[in-house]
Amino acid sequence: MALVKPTARLFSANSRAFALNRHQSVAHRVAMSSRSISSVVRDFREKNSQQDLKDKHVLVVGGTQGIGAATAKRFASLGASVTITGRDKSRGNYILETLRKSTPSENHSPQHTFETLEVTKLGNLKQFVQSFSGKHSQTGLHALILCAGGLNYGPRRETEDGVEMTFAMNILSRFLLTHELQPLLAKAPGGRVVNVLGAGNGSNDINVDDLELKNGFNFIRAASLHATINDLLTKQFAKRYSDAAFYHFFPGMVNTNGPENNRFPWFVTLPAKIVMPLIATPPEDVAEVITYVATSPEFGTPRSGALLGPKANDAKQADVLNKPEVGKKVWDYMIQRAGLSS
Ligand SMILES: NC(=O)c1ccc[n+]([C@@H]2O[C@H](COP(=O)([O-])OP(=O)(O)OC[C@H]3O[C@@H](n4cnc5c(N)ncnc54)[C@H](OP(=O)(O)O)[C@@H]3O)[C@@H](O)[C@H]2O)c1
Repeated sequence: MALVKPTARLFSANSRAFALNRHQSVAHRVAMSSRSISSVVRDFREKNSQQDLKDKHVLVVGGTQGIGAATAKRFASLGASVTITGRDKSRGNYILETLRKSTPSENHSPQHTFETLEVTKLGNLKQFVQSFSGKHSQTGLHALILCAGGLNYGPRRETEDGVEMTFAMNILSRFLLTHELQPLLAKAPGGRVVNVLGAGNGSNDINVDDLELKNGFNFIRAASLHATINDLLTKQFAKRYSDAAFYHFFPGMVNTNGPENNRFPWFVTLPAKIVMPLIATPPEDVAEVITYVATSPEFGTPRSGALLGPKANDAKQADVLNKPEVGKKVWDYMIQRAGLSS
């Protein structure tokens, strides 16, 4: 694999981890493929329940609804202090209350907080990073869970920073937060990022000179491209930073208000309301998988950079991921787009 060989040469300290990773991957893939999602969730729920996460701080970006809210709640139930972000203050305060109620009563007082954050505005993201980093410089950040995102069914739109709207949500905000909070993640033992989007759902169809789809935008192309870009960036983060672990996760079809939040037309949202509860995974089950990936020893730094499917199984990898020059170009583009220096 073109990406692995130079990586192993350049980062010799990581080469054993890569070899181990590949070994584990095969065993893991065989074991996981034969299990149902409900049996995996049951297993993870039991293992998660044995954890005591007091003294750990978790940030869930997009923690006011759906997968993010369920994940925040699960972390709170295991004793972690949780910061959730979202745009709507009343929704945020409501979830904050559920976090307090989910918290185990014994022996400590976790610090749950809600922060208003519009992730499509670079200025807001940078302000948030500065303030959050100031508050957590001593303890560090144990887990960063990235859930704010969505699709745009309509024509291409740009943010006030001139960035394609869904690119801003699904890629740029996640890149900036991961990059800028990396020092905090490195400070916390076992710091991890779980980027919840579309691991393994991309393709080789990527034009590095048009990552924001100025030409031929539609939400299906954008979704596939965003999956590929996050796959590439997850591998770049893993390659560049060894003191935290980075995962891109695809949750499968989950029963949330996503279709309505993304303003899909009624002929999509109406049937979805009826069918989704029957066929889609409940957000609480997905939260169990995310919590496991973010905390269990199985997903420490040796597996950093993995692309994970709904059962935390290895997701399929497009061939383009084996081209280091593509990953580097995308990385450089993100640095420039986020207005960062390196
Ligand atoms: N549900 C699925 O089947 C599925 C499948 C594959 C991938 N995913 C991905 O997984 C992630 C979570 O999905 P979900 O179904 O849980 O979504 P959801 O129910 O629509 O929740 C999205 C969360 O992101 C926040 N958010 C959305 N736009 C934002 C913005 N511009 N600025 C700040 N916060 C924003 C929302 O907060 P407020 O609205 O309160 O501000 C909310 O907390 C998304 O990226 C989605 O694309 C979902």
